[in-house]
Amino acid sequence: MQTITITKPDDFHLHLRDGAALESVVNHTAAQFARAIIMPNLKPPVVTTELALEYRDRILASVNKQYDFEPLMTLYLTDNTSAEEIKTAAESKLIKALKYYPAGATTNSDQGVTDFKKTYAALEAMMKHGMPLLVHGEVTNDDVDIFDREAVFIDKVLTPLAKDFPELKIVLEHITTKAGVDFVLSAKENIAATITPQHILLNRNDLFKGGLRPHNYCLPILKAEQDRKAVQQAAISGNAKFFLGTDSAPHERKNKETGCGCAGIFSAHIGIEIYAEAFDETGAIDKLEAFASHYGADFYGLPRNADQITLIKEELSIPETIAFGDSVLVPFRTGETCAWQLKK
Ligand code: NCD
Ligand code: ZN
Repeated sequence: MQTITITKPDDFHLHLRDGAALESVVNHTAAQFARAIIMPNLKPPVVTTELALEYRDRILASVNKQYDFEPLMTLYLTDNTSAEEIKTAAESKLIKALKYYPAGATTNSDQGVTDFKKTYAALEAMMKHGMPLLVHGEVTNDDVDIFDREAVFIDKVLTPLAKDFPELKIVLEHITTKAGVDFVLSAKENIAATITPQHILLNRNDLFKGGLRPHNYCLPILKAEQDRKAVQQAAISGNAKFFLGTDSAPHERKNKETGCGCAGIFSAHIGIEIYAEAFDETGAIDKLEAFASHYGADFYGLPRNADQITLIKEELSIPETIAFGDSVLVPFRTGETCAWQLKK
């Protein structure tokens, strides 16, 4: 049986929700990861340091005592985020980044940025304080095809923004295309990207295999095979600009299996295990540790974790549903298996 022992990983893109939903999902992550960047797209969004610190307390109160888990908080950038708020956030030491959602791009993003020029005072302050900008890189115009939204965002928003703020740390979140990979590769050291398990493992055919598959629907949407391959190659490349961010995004089953379903794939139950499978599949298991446990921490200027975990190549059965508040969610790989599992 094959086993590997690696530095304990961090998840640099995670949705935990709030209330009973938070209590249901947080320990799936805390069981596998030391730290996670917590997305601020609650309803209403986490727009101030005060709200983020209250949210952090609720997260910590929901973590089982047996786990040592640190939530790394973020603020939700709006047209009105002030330079002062950035200063307060930076001085708190507990807020690690700001998240840029184009208005209307995804779940709970209606208070997102309407025009990136409106955020320039905030970006200026972020650059000054060394605070990274985490970008949901999709335009939202109806005249842009959904499969082109990342490439057009890079062209129309990210390229000019990066030019105007050359020292700003930027993470292009959950990259899905060759255009995304190429942009990050050609950019300076201060621009990096997170990669999800679904964008390494699935392509857009997986949305329609034998019928409509709502549980494979997330944003940015799965892309064509050549894009999936480019993302997979970036993940296993050993380039420090690419690191782990699951984008685990839980939704109640009935909000996915409906006439107009929510975007988001829940993967926290196999957070590191599914990446081990994905890396091993391409003969790159030796590249997993740096991708999952070194590069993200280095980019954020955080110490690497001291603890280790061991993964075993042994089939893990995935349940069909997982408890979620007073309901259930349908997890990634529902009713199937994962080729690797965490040694308990
Ligand atoms: C996320 C969610 O549900 O909050 N959904 C998703 O498809 N990834 C939002 C996001 O990260 O876009
Ligand atoms: Zn997300």
